[in-house]
Amino acid sequence: MSTATLGLAERNSLISESSTMKVAAAADRLRRQGVDVVDFGAGEPDFPTPDNIKQAAIQAIHDNFTKYTPAGGTVDLKEAICERHAKDYGTNYKPNECIVTVGGKHVIFNLMQVLVNPGDEVIIPVPYWVTNKDVVNYAGGKCVFVNTSEEKDFVLSADMIEPNLNERTKVVMINSPSNPSGAVLSKSEFEKIFQLTSKRGIWLMTDECYCRFLYDSEPFSIAATPGAKESVIVAGSLSKTYSMTGWRIGFGLAPAAVIGAIGRLQSHMTSNPTSIAQKAAYEALRGPQESVGVMLAEYARRREYVMARLRAMPGVKAADPKGAFYAYPNISVAFGKNNIHSAMDFSEKLLDQAKVAVVPGEAFGTEEHVRISYATSMEMLTLGLDRIEKFLKELN
Ligand SMILES: Cc1ncc(COP(=O)(O)O)c(C=O)c1O
Repeated sequence: MSTATLGLAERNSLISESSTMKVAAAADRLRRQGVDVVDFGAGEPDFPTPDNIKQAAIQAIHDNFTKYTPAGGTVDLKEAICERHAKDYGTNYKPNECIVTVGGKHVIFNLMQVLVNPGDEVIIPVPYWVTNKDVVNYAGGKCVFVNTSEEKDFVLSADMIEPNLNERTKVVMINSPSNPSGAVLSKSEFEKIFQLTSKRGIWLMTDECYCRFLYDSEPFSIAATPGAKESVIVAGSLSKTYSMTGWRIGFGLAPAAVIGAIGRLQSHMTSNPTSIAQKAAYEALRGPQESVGVMLAEYARRREYVMARLRAMPGVKAADPKGAFYAYPNISVAFGKNNIHSAMDFSEKLLDQAKVAVVPGEAFGTEEHVRISYATSMEMLTLGLDRIEKFLKELN
């Protein structure tokens, strides 16, 4: 068969390469050529996985815990997830309302597959996490983007959501704290959104990936609101909370019927998340929690530094990130100079000329911003911000 007849299925056009992965690959290419790139693209903690978690995985290998587990994760781990969520947020999930997945991305992908029919609408606040748009499209859904305002630090409100709800709306996706903006939805505003969705029979998906990384407020879960369990779905991840990005453990908390559907899908797709990683995750959730606070304190220090530096750069505006570990500055001051007409141009030129990797806002649905991850050392932050400052100064 010629390559022309080896056509790919049409649904491939519904999904594009993750821009964050693309930036990581471009930075990596330069690094392998010996270029000293400062990488602000990576959305992952720079801390090692805590030692007690690593030891649990090593012990799992010694104990020969290296075979298949139930596709949706071990009952022990599901219990630990429910227990941790109950302790942290006051929810009361049972193991049959919990599934363990291959990272948080996996649970969101699977959720869209089991919930969304062709033509169903899914509400996605802008700026959004890159993956959300693609997973909705791939499920045949229609993304309905809801703009937030930079002047209000990209914080979402129920008033922004309400006019977009109709009989085709299936899911409202909320990610607070937000990747990429760091915006945090207050408890009262989140409850208002829950009131809107629950009375209309719309699923409210809360992506709690960064939930423990809040700078001026206390963590909460909308799933703890009375009556929420019927229509709220929690998409969780251990990746950022415990610096476990490579271990690939996420989870879903939802009504048993939804969990059952995901479990069936998963049983034919990935089967279980890695058995060893499940033992590590169990230790992460049941073991000492101090490492989370240590990371948060360090992110807080870096946030202060990064925001002060960005705001001191002439023409750069930077909304206040109240959570996660990203800054999302407006760099449109560079537009019209040095052949830069978009955030994408800016990012390409910054990498090429100043050797700093950032993710262009187009990946997240806005045109004048770039995402800077401050999950990297103070030394790298200083070096990278010096380079960005110099790059901006020299534009003409
Ligand atoms: C908003 C958001 N949700 C979910 C995830 C999923 O993370 P993982 O698949 O590593 O658990 C990420 C990772 O970057 C994220 O930024």
